[in-house]
Amino acid sequence: MIKIAIFASGSGSNFENIVKHVKEGDLQNIEVTALYTDKANAQCIERARKLNIPVHINQPKDFASKSSYEQQLLKHLSDEGVQWIVLAGYMRLVGQDLLQAFEGRMLNIHPSLLPKYKGLDAIGQAFDSGDTVTGSTVHYVDSGMDTGEIIEQQQCDIRTDDTKEDLEERVKNLEYELYPRVIAKIIK
Ligand code: GRF
Repeated sequence: MIKIAIFASGSGSNFENIVKHVKEGDLQNIEVTALYTDKANAQCIERARKLNIPVHINQPKDFASKSSYEQQLLKHLSDEGVQWIVLAGYMRLVGQDLLQAFEGRMLNIHPSLLPKYKGLDAIGQAFDSGDTVTGSTVHYVDSGMDTGEIIEQQQCDIRTDDTKEDLEERVKNLEYELYPRVIAKIIK
């Protein structure tokens, strides 16, 4: 079994989707040790409780520095024997402490066809752009924002009659298929 930790800051629907794939036997060699969140009121916490997944809540504001925050995370990761970190809506740049410990063993998913539309509200950026396609990208994590080596991308249409909400739903549905598939391919 390969132990992974999932990091999330918000809704956690990708987190839940990955856990469901594990529980249903679609990711047979993967064990999710815990959800790690930096937001005490994030919706992902409630999802984790319902799925019986342990939760670590650590808020950077409660630590003297980014390094001491990440050292606390590293302590939990080491205690749990975590081998890979999977970011799923973790709204924070990863610092040197975590990067050095997990270099080449940390994935992220970003809702655009990178290198287009890095950073916040990537779906809104694509929606406003006039582009006719967008999608989602799974990539390795480095010190930049959505800049790590691209592993796989999946594309969808932006239709002329789409609302932004329509497009968000289409990209999310694509991610629910893309992320587990790439996790199965890369984490072995
Ligand atoms: C996803 O669209 C992912 O690509 C991005 O953040 C979003 C997280 O959504 N990094 P959720 O919290 O999994 O619903």
